[in-house]
Amino acid sequence: ASRQDLQGRKVVITAGPTYEKIDPVRFIGNYSSGKMGYALAEECAERGAEVTLISGPVSLNPVHPNIHRISVESAAQMHQAAISSFSSADAGILCAAVADFTPEECSNQKIKRGEDDLVIRLKPTHDIASELGKMKTGSQHLVGFALETNDEIAHAQSKLERKNLDFIVMNSLNDAGAGFRCDTNKISIIDAQGITPYPLKPKKEVAKDIVDKLVSLFR
Ligand code: C5P
Repeated sequence: ASRQDLQGRKVVITAGPTYEKIDPVRFIGNYSSGKMGYALAEECAERGAEVTLISGPVSLNPVHPNIHRISVESAAQMHQAAISSFSSADAGILCAAVADFTPEECSNQKIKRGEDDLVIRLKPTHDIASELGKMKTGSQHLVGFALETNDEIAHAQSKLERKNLDFIVMNSLNDAGAGFRCDTNKISIIDAQGITPYPLKPKKEVAKDIVDKLVSLFR
């Protein structure tokens, strides 16, 4: 059995992609599989936490009985679930690949092919991480993720401050075997003290490293 160092803690985790509807049969989505978020949920639950897993559409199911899943589809639904769950939580881990933009309107009928270009106007969604960062009290902790294609460290550092996160898990699309859909990941953890790189590992072990870091904040 794993050490119960999250016994009595409530952790909210967002995971997976969001789908933003264009019409009844189409959406804007992304390549997130949810694997990292689900691995974090299992790790937290195995270590004694009560987990609320707010999940976008993925083909995974939680295993541990102490994971309570709230299934959502859109960024708006994920936002609503996260805001209402976080106030009673001890920590939030924001692993979801939330759409940054959503169609201004969703057509009630399937959009038909035509001769003209199709223009879909998008409006920004809520930034769940930064809103939870504003809600965060002195006894709560928030962990964010950053996936960048360029200037990773500078972007992650600015996110850490802007979103009021305790630490940020950075993964780079430039590393082989890291990021979307992989079973392995190569992360660096960035906090106010600096940057700690980790070797390439299975996502389950990466989850352990991230949870170890979270547990250290509660001490
Ligand atoms: O700014 P960026 O999207 O790169 O920040 C990534 C972090 O913010 C991740 O932790 C992600 O889950 C979170 N995020 C969010 N809501 C959004 C966009 C990003 O919670 N609308």
